[in-house]
Amino acid sequence: MNILVIGSGGREHALCWKIKQSPKVKKLYCAPGNGGISQIAQCVNISAEDIDGLLKFAFEKKIDLTVVGPEVSLVKGIVDVFVQKGLKIFGPSKEAAQLEGSKVFSKEFLHRRNIPTAVYKVFDQSSQALEFLNKAQFPLVVKADGIAAGKGVYVCANLQEAQTAVDDIMVQKVFGSAGDRIVIEECLVGQEASVLAICDGKHFFVLPSAQDHKRIFDDDLGPNTGGMGSYSPAPVVTKAVLDNIIARIIEPAIRGMYQEGIPFKGVLYAGVMLTAQGPFVLEFNTRFGDPETQSILPRLKTDLVDIMIAACDGRLNDLKVQWDPRPCICVVMTSGGYPGKYQNGYEIKGLADVTDEDTVVFHAGTRNDGGVLVTAGGRVLGITSMGNTLEKAIGKAYEAVEKIHFDHMFFRRDIAQKALKPAKKG
Ligand code: AMP
Ligand code: GLY
Repeated sequence: MNILVIGSGGREHALCWKIKQSPKVKKLYCAPGNGGISQIAQCVNISAEDIDGLLKFAFEKKIDLTVVGPEVSLVKGIVDVFVQKGLKIFGPSKEAAQLEGSKVFSKEFLHRRNIPTAVYKVFDQSSQALEFLNKAQFPLVVKADGIAAGKGVYVCANLQEAQTAVDDIMVQKVFGSAGDRIVIEECLVGQEASVLAICDGKHFFVLPSAQDHKRIFDDDLGPNTGGMGSYSPAPVVTKAVLDNIIARIIEPAIRGMYQEGIPFKGVLYAGVMLTAQGPFVLEFNTRFGDPETQSILPRLKTDLVDIMIAACDGRLNDLKVQWDPRPCICVVMTSGGYPGKYQNGYEIKGLADVTDEDTVVFHAGTRNDGGVLVTAGGRVLGITSMGNTLEKAIGKAYEAVEKIHFDHMFFRRDIAQKALKPAKKG
């Protein structure tokens, strides 16, 4: 088979790496890809948002399966366009991707289907939102309706912070039209976990749980990032908790979408808060998480191509999926300054010294510059290790991190430590 993966981050490198292991793959392409992906796939210089360009390429190269990484392509409707032309593509339709593309759509769906989520209100006028805030209790959460590269959520401790959020989103329009509407919701308290399900419209199976580290500094301090590391499984998601998440969230969501005539195909990612009242949905994403995918896919033993084809064809119920029980962790190495301003173009050294067979380095922001691998993004590498125990996986990953160097590099030293400690409150 000829396969095309769309995207250019660590998630897409992990997808390419796993797909490449399938004996079914004849030729693997990635658009646009990155320096690491180019070592295992043919990178093509087409943007993830250029749906016409990608469609033309898929026909030219006789692509048998297209796999979509980022949400922007999904929300723009790439799946509908490919399906209309008879091409197989793994991901949700434009309408189903609204679960991520519109917080208002998602909240109204959750409410309609009786799936636990924070109490909320929707506003399309800043004046009404501000009036509401004057009488509100704090803390609360203000969210831009549309996609905002993971930055559209403001957890506000007081009135002034909430007023600033409304002003940023609705008046200054820092996220453009994504801020035409907002959701204001109750602030939930608990531990967070990500549970991802692969769905074929009707059937689904859940992937092992994972946890992301969103803040830039150790101990979850500093500003939010795209994700500084991850580990799988997340011990906080016990069998009982997972069963509860499936029964109260995943299953009713898939059934609800099906019953409403918007069958969900692809990855449904539930960001969940484990509250004293049980699991609540914080948000849905409609794609693989980044960097969760980097620590989940190395644990997958079943052929990912078989899974994706079965999902496209509505046959997931026929499939047995097997997982490696060993834990996996991913430590993200970033350019100094990220998530703020940073410089690109520094040579990355030491990758050849990473020889441990349970460690793989996924590239997120790298570029091959005339045979020299250089930094080309905020998140640069994801050092990913499996181990018989979580401690061993952590040890291997950081041993590899120590061998790698680029100027101004930065990484957290506490990835997965949370999983070793008893749960902290709040
Ligand atoms: P994002 O993944 O960028 O949409 O950010 C969502 C993050 O905002 C979550 O991971 C939570 O940490 C936080 N968050 C969102 N909604 C709530 C809520 N209702 N209560 C508390 N925290 C929230
Ligand atoms: N790790 C969070 C996300 O993929 O949105």
